[in-house]
Amino acid sequence: MTARGLVVFVDDDRHVRNAGRQTLELAGYEVQCLESAQLALHRLSPEWPGVVVSDIKMPGMDGLEFLTRALDVDRDLPVVLITGHGDISMAVKAIRDGAYDFIEKPFPAEVLVEVVGRAVEKRRLTLENRSLRREVEIGNTPGPRILGNSQAAQRLRHLVINIADTGADVLIHGETGTGKELVANFLHEHSRRRDRNFVAVNCGAVPAELIESELFGHEAGAFTGAARRRIGKFEHANGGTILLDEIESTPPALQVKLLRVLQERQVERLGSNTLVPLDLRVVAATKVDLEDLVRAGRFREDLYYRLNVVAIEVPPLRERRGDIPLLFQHFVLEACSRHHREPAVLEAGQAAELMAHSWPGNVRELQHAAERFVLFGEGPATDLATIIKGLDSGDGTTLAEQVGHFEKSLIAQELARHKGDIRKTMEALGVPRKTLYDKMAKFGLSRRSYQ
Ligand SMILES: Nc1ncnc2c1ncn2[C@@H]1O[C@H](COP(=O)(O)OP(=O)(O)OP(=O)(O)O)[C@@H](O)[C@H]1O
Ligand SMILES: [Mg+2]
Repeated sequence: MTARGLVVFVDDDRHVRNAGRQTLELAGYEVQCLESAQLALHRLSPEWPGVVVSDIKMPGMDGLEFLTRALDVDRDLPVVLITGHGDISMAVKAIRDGAYDFIEKPFPAEVLVEVVGRAVEKRRLTLENRSLRREVEIGNTPGPRILGNSQAAQRLRHLVINIADTGADVLIHGETGTGKELVANFLHEHSRRRDRNFVAVNCGAVPAELIESELFGHEAGAFTGAARRRIGKFEHANGGTILLDEIESTPPALQVKLLRVLQERQVERLGSNTLVPLDLRVVAATKVDLEDLVRAGRFREDLYYRLNVVAIEVPPLRERRGDIPLLFQHFVLEACSRHHREPAVLEAGQAAELMAHSWPGNVRELQHAAERFVLFGEGPATDLATIIKGLDSGDGTTLAEQVGHFEKSLIAQELARHKGDIRKTMEALGVPRKTLYDKMAKFGLSRRSYQ
């Protein structure tokens, strides 16, 4: 069970601390008891998700000074102070100085629980608002956009925004064309490293014998053919972000070297003895589940753990079908402006048709379809299936037949996958119930044959 919230409880008296812990833990909170304000201060930061309850009278730093210093760390942090019995002037001063509330000694357990409950709720809202505000700010600034209103897209955007400005290394996992490079680029553009280079290396595309010099660079004469000194990708990305794309294709020998570079954060050009210190963020991207490769002995476990500090899963497009019309429209507008065409508009039926496709090539496939739509898409709605598939209809069958055949196989495929369940098939295809029934009747499909 997750705790209802985090509370730091500060009191120099052990008995009071123990009583406080017991009360708050019983009420479902995670409690950290500390004997001095100094110790508590170290725990605080603007992102810290908890609230503070502190005694006022303590040796060393007292509660009022602690309050001031805690609010210097984050002026929205709820600090609840415990005042002596009848000490009205102290209570007034605490509130005036910015305390969230005060509790008078001796206090019944319910009072503590009630005040902490409110404080925790306030903290949660503060942090949530900040994160939303940041999302809006980022949405209004130029730079890469991760579009989509589906829950999956929102969750992705939220996560990416929240880690963009941290230094943590990131591992991005997703099928082909889902937007891994876009996410990596977004992380870079919204970090404090944005003014330095974003460098992408495809670990799968560079021949094994060249990749070391590509990544680490070399000195003149380091090997036959190395006429001039060359700065490697790591050095080029220094201060910025390096994307190690298709990390799963890294040859074993290189995996060892990569691990060393990532751990020591320094690089040595081939044929040189000087170490160049690196200050960069490492983002790795993979199409496969690296953990499987580790289990199969094809990827080093230590390198996997080193890369996987923060993991980002980019979902396939078929798991966020609701975003398909929006993304398509976006790519259509982009293509229109590139080809100097009048904006092409998608009809409602066409949107449903797009949503029904499985998009194995994900967003990139959709982008290419949008491009074809702008170039060849004038005409009746049925053209779309051809455009989606990128086929030409010169093989004897009419376009309508091709479309019909395609639609039928698509519906049959989803019916089979959902064992004849109409509701699930409807959802998977993104069409209303009536449309589905009409089409099934037209194509002679019966749900019973799939149960
Ligand atoms: N959510 C999105 N909003 C807007 N554009 C997107 C989105 N996702 C992907 N794209 C665009 O789709 C194209 C493919 O994305 P990207 O190259 O990042 O995919 P990838 O996962 O790196 O693909 P591959 O596995 O083939 O390397 C890019 O042009 C990218 O800008
Ligand atoms: Mg890519």
